[in-house]
Amino acid sequence: MNLPGSGTANEHEASAAVALAAEKHWAWVVGAIIASILAMMVFTGLHYAAMPPSRVEAVDVKTLHIRGEFVENNLGTALEASGKVTVRLIAQQYSFTPQCIVVPAEMPVTFRGTSTDAIHGFVVGRTNANTMLVPGFVSTFTTTFPKAGEQLMPCHEYCGTGHEAMWAHVQVIPREQFLERAKRAERLSCVPR
Ligand code: CUA
Repeated sequence: MNLPGSGTANEHEASAAVALAAEKHWAWVVGAIIASILAMMVFTGLHYAAMPPSRVEAVDVKTLHIRGEFVENNLGTALEASGKVTVRLIAQQYSFTPQCIVVPAEMPVTFRGTSTDAIHGFVVGRTNANTMLVPGFVSTFTTTFPKAGEQLMPCHEYCGTGHEAMWAHVQVIPREQFLERAKRAERLSCVPR
């Protein structure tokens, strides 16, 4: 007969020692996995210049479209009086406003965005312009596009049945051309009208 619990005290001690050794082994394996994930996060953060949100700035979703920074005619790209370039955009199921964004090459561009409904996100082409847009909060980051060209800007947070059809365009235009256009309009976009 070899029923569980029928062993001698010695056998119990032996199996406890085996269990302890196995636990220690797994603790090392799990520790190594955690260490390698942390190392990967640090490496990708530094190597790809990832931009985690740096602060919390709240905005009222209920009045977003009526007053304040994110009213429709204030969206798009602005050349501020200080000479800084700011893009203001909102995301909603299932589009971005504006649908086509104009930015200059070789100049720092600050994005300020929020969402009116679900959590959305976007990434611009193969650049490090990448953030989540969360209802009730303003996401901000600054990046520089090295060269002119057209980029796609898809939503990259699953936000519902229309998620895969949610994307915008980003036109990166030469700096001089941008400054010239900014003289003629307060808010720029490349949405056809
Ligand atoms: Cu919006 Cu996915």
